[in-house]
Amino acid sequence: MIISKSPILVDAQSKGYAVPAFNIHNLETMKTVLETAQELRSPVMIAATPSTVRYIGKEFLVKMMEAAQQTYDIPICFHLDHHENIEDIKELIEMGIPSVMIDASHHEFEENVRIVREVAQYAARFGTAVEAELGRLSGIEDDMEVDEKDQIYTNPKEAKEFVARTGIDSLAVAIGTAHGLYKGEPKLDIDRLAAIQKEVDIPLVLHGASGLPDELVQETIKRGICKVNVATELKLAFVKGLRSYLKAHPEASDPRFYFHDAVAEMKKVIMEKIKMCGSVNRG
Ligand code: 13P
Ligand code: ZN
Ligand code: NA
Repeated sequence: MIISKSPILVDAQSKGYAVPAFNIHNLETMKTVLETAQELRSPVMIAATPSTVRYIGKEFLVKMMEAAQQTYDIPICFHLDHHENIEDIKELIEMGIPSVMIDASHHEFEENVRIVREVAQYAARFGTAVEAELGRLSGIEDDMEVDEKDQIYTNPKEAKEFVARTGIDSLAVAIGTAHGLYKGEPKLDIDRLAAIQKEVDIPLVLHGASGLPDELVQETIKRGICKVNVATELKLAFVKGLRSYLKAHPEASDPRFYFHDAVAEMKKVIMEKIKMCGSVNRG
């Protein structure tokens, strides 16, 4: 039996699709993700890293979340991505954020368990869903940077113990994906993922999806991935559109128009990723 506080992921798990989780950075990225998800009737997760929370501000973020929930009628889940500071997490849980990732994956196993368990126990009082990571991805995400030689693949047996001892709702796995784009052709350890899926019955999470071919991500969805994290490709689409707009309109002086092409570029990426996840018409 699966008892999870993350209904959005449990639905994906039971039906064999994944919920796309997009990292947002401002009002324009958030609204574009939500509008596109609404158009395709896809459930969606809005993810904010610690630096995004600092940039937007906790109060604004929570109010934006409430406004989003009133504006759209698809399942929307706001999620804290790669958070490490327990005090910050607790404060945001109390403010109503429904889903958090406590990332203690850089600690050794026992310490990772101890930290994650503390957060999971706290979150349980509020009905907040908790994601944690076992193993370590390489690459760059916001102010987090991990060298390729420091990446650690998730061990399936350890994963089972980790999930049982921490009481988390979803598990982020390291199977060869990396944050940011890939230098060469990305290679994923699909057999390892299948072995993890055998040991672990909660939804699994794929970080580092930017730069992966759709078919490869779909392979992982067949083997238990229920949440697919996308950050870099959305950032690149945004800046590409912004640059082209400002280049084409050097005299532009109304900030509301600057984002026109950025929104169009982001929309293409969001649609593509939603379709890749198989989450169209699930919301
Ligand atoms: P990418 O930047 O590779 O899309 O990774 C996103 C991610 O894992 C966010 O947590
Ligand atoms: Zn990540
Ligand atoms: Na990536």
